[in-house]
Amino acid sequence: MTSDDQKRAAAEKVLEFIEPGMALGLGTGSTAEHFVRELAVRVRAGLKVRATSTSDRTEALARELGIPVVTLDELGAPDITVDGADEVDSELRLIKGGGGALLREKVVAAASKHMIVIADWTKHVGALGAFPLPVEIVTLAPHTTMRRVAEVVAGAGCRGNLISLRGGERPFRTDQGNFIADVTCEFIPNPNELARSLSGIAGVVEHGLFIGLCQTLILGHSNGLEIVTR
Ligand code: 5RP
Repeated sequence: MTSDDQKRAAAEKVLEFIEPGMALGLGTGSTAEHFVRELAVRVRAGLKVRATSTSDRTEALARELGIPVVTLDELGAPDITVDGADEVDSELRLIKGGGGALLREKVVAAASKHMIVIADWTKHVGALGAFPLPVEIVTLAPHTTMRRVAEVVAGAGCRGNLISLRGGERPFRTDQGNFIADVTCEFIPNPNELARSLSGIAGVVEHGLFIGLCQTLILGHSNGLEIVTR
């Protein structure tokens, strides 16, 4: 089974959690895309659900495939949000934002009654930090904000604190019009503490540490699926 097969298998499994009439949050990324495609098959076969999206690109895909999408305010609290992750540890803490959608992903996840992460086994790590941590920042004085972020990351005892603006000289813009700084932490000794500290920096809109949001993890392995709950 390739890693993409494992992602698809996890996306198929999560459909067992979906009930008619549910309000759903649709995640972003290649794994979430498998879920949106599988969900659309059920919707075309008559499953009635309402959904909100965590990014413009997922919204466009969902609409194209016939899934009704509304804003989070119109939907209210999603019963379930299904999303991917860049890293997940054994406490179901996540690094997200590799696809640049972390702000809306976090707003939707935080509003949801149940967040389920689907991923292939490579995303499951002993300690968070090998994947560069995305931090969404305002476009005003990005280098000033990034210097502060690097100081905070170093102060939190991370092994690395290299920071780069995503897109470099032509910075990537998020759906909300912000920039993303990617921080090479290598190893995050205390993700909860780092999350709190990053949230306190002026100019940081949101960071990619998702703590206490994911309740269920469905991991695809080469020999089957593993479900972890918190
Ligand atoms: C997007 C994300 C994605 O969920 C994360 O990057 C995982 O992507 P993929 O499913 O393609 O591996 O956080 O902002």
